[in-house]
Amino acid sequence: MREAQQTPSGSNSQSWLFTAIQNRDTLLRLNGLVRTGFQSYEPDDDYPAKHGAKKRAQEESFNFYNHAPALIIASNRSGYENAMADCALALENIFLTAESLGLGSCYINALHWLRNDPGIREYLVELGIPREHTICSSAAVGYIAKPSPVPPRKANTTRIIE
Ligand SMILES: Cc1cc2nc3c(=O)[nH]c(=O)nc-3n(C[C@H](O)[C@H](O)[C@H](O)COP(=O)(O)O)c2cc1C
Repeated sequence: MREAQQTPSGSNSQSWLFTAIQNRDTLLRLNGLVRTGFQSYEPDDDYPAKHGAKKRAQEESFNFYNHAPALIIASNRSGYENAMADCALALENIFLTAESLGLGSCYINALHWLRNDPGIREYLVELGIPREHTICSSAAVGYIAKPSPVPPRKANTTRIIE
């Protein structure tokens, strides 16, 4: 969490909040709300992961944080221009720190997609995330059961102009 706090932010805003949930019951309650939220969620574009998550949420076994023991929610002031950018940079610091500690981590978008779901919002407010915050992203952090292969990188995605 300290590493997230050390992240640069636009105009040094530091208007973010990082909320780490390590309580299993709290995570399971949130998972239930996310499952319910996906039922009425209508993806606003054809991004495949949104549709995939909505479909998987119909299954009893659905778990949006992959059963990780910790979920870190990055929220930020709603309407602030760099809300997503600041939180994404901070999450990358969390991922790098997790890696350096031999832990696994994963960017989890579900709470961002469902950020306006009333049931989820109320519960997050109950957990201390300010009502005026928007949910930017989250990171699941845990132990690596099975290392996953790193997808090959596409060619021609970098350029140097000299
Ligand atoms: C902005 C962003 C959003 C992501 N959202 C999710 C997500 O909601 N659930 C998930 O399991 N993985 C998510 N990922 C992880 C990507 O699927 C993963 O990084 C990608 O498959 C490439 O694999 P690599 O990280 O090993 O290079 C996300 C990654 C990024 C950068």
